[in-house]
Amino acid sequence: MSLHPMKTLLVEARAKGYAVPAFNCANLEMIQCVLRTAAELRAPVILGIHPVEMDYMGGAPVAVAIARAVAEGLDVDYAIHQDHGDTVETCIRSIRSGFTSVMYDGSHLPIEENAANSAEVVRIAHAYGVTVEGEVGTIGMTDEFGARLENAHLCDPDMAERLAATGIDCLAVAIGNAHGFYTATPELRFDLLEEINRRVKIPLVLHGGTGIPRDQVQQAIRMGVAKMNVGTALRYAFVRAAADLCASEVVRDLPLMALGRAGIRAGAEVVREYMDICMCAGRSG
Ligand code: 13P
Repeated sequence: MSLHPMKTLLVEARAKGYAVPAFNCANLEMIQCVLRTAAELRAPVILGIHPVEMDYMGGAPVAVAIARAVAEGLDVDYAIHQDHGDTVETCIRSIRSGFTSVMYDGSHLPIEENAANSAEVVRIAHAYGVTVEGEVGTIGMTDEFGARLENAHLCDPDMAERLAATGIDCLAVAIGNAHGFYTATPELRFDLLEEINRRVKIPLVLHGGTGIPRDQVQQAIRMGVAKMNVGTALRYAFVRAAADLCASEVVRDLPLMALGRAGIRAGAEVVREYMDICMCAGRSG
């Protein structure tokens, strides 16, 4: 039970047919919520921390220190993952700060540049035993593309193969998924996922997990997805709980801690729901 390179968790998940959820966290309460719930369920889990979330917490070393301190009293298998780093320097900073995984997101660049930068991140990260996630195709926002994402830049299997050759440990695929609340039920492109999974032998990653129906997530897991990112649903649970409390009480009398506790309680329901969808409860040693 401990902090792992993310790859260790994903290889095990892929071999056994489940996925490990990565929950975006931006503060102490979110980290407590995710790690405590994972420990209760004996489920492996990933703390996904975006550079913006790191900055909010006071920088990458602070984020790592909070995560490690919270996990210390718990029996939990987890990884600390940098979500969407768009420069090599950002990834290096996270690696040096103790993250056990980094995502280098060069998906907005031409494939040659994306591959060159990904290879550089792999060279450095692997020297530290740190996992690397890459991305091809652009996983945008739900409000940019609409529910059916007709104009999205989907993952091209040739480019997926090209990026996998850089030595990345897992690959984020754009197959009709997007970040944020979907405005209608998404329809993942399983034809594309099947082709990518046939040609790329590393675990695949599904971003934009909030709101993807259970049957589609589980079908994606059968086609090589071993990690699913969930951000919006957890953030919303925290904000909604705080807003409801403010609406129902005299704000002047509300202790700040009551807002945090309400968020943790509401967030734990979201964590349980996505753990169930990912079929990862009870999988920790
Ligand atoms: P959602 O916010 O749509 O759940 O996506 C999170 C994500 O993919 C973070 O990288």
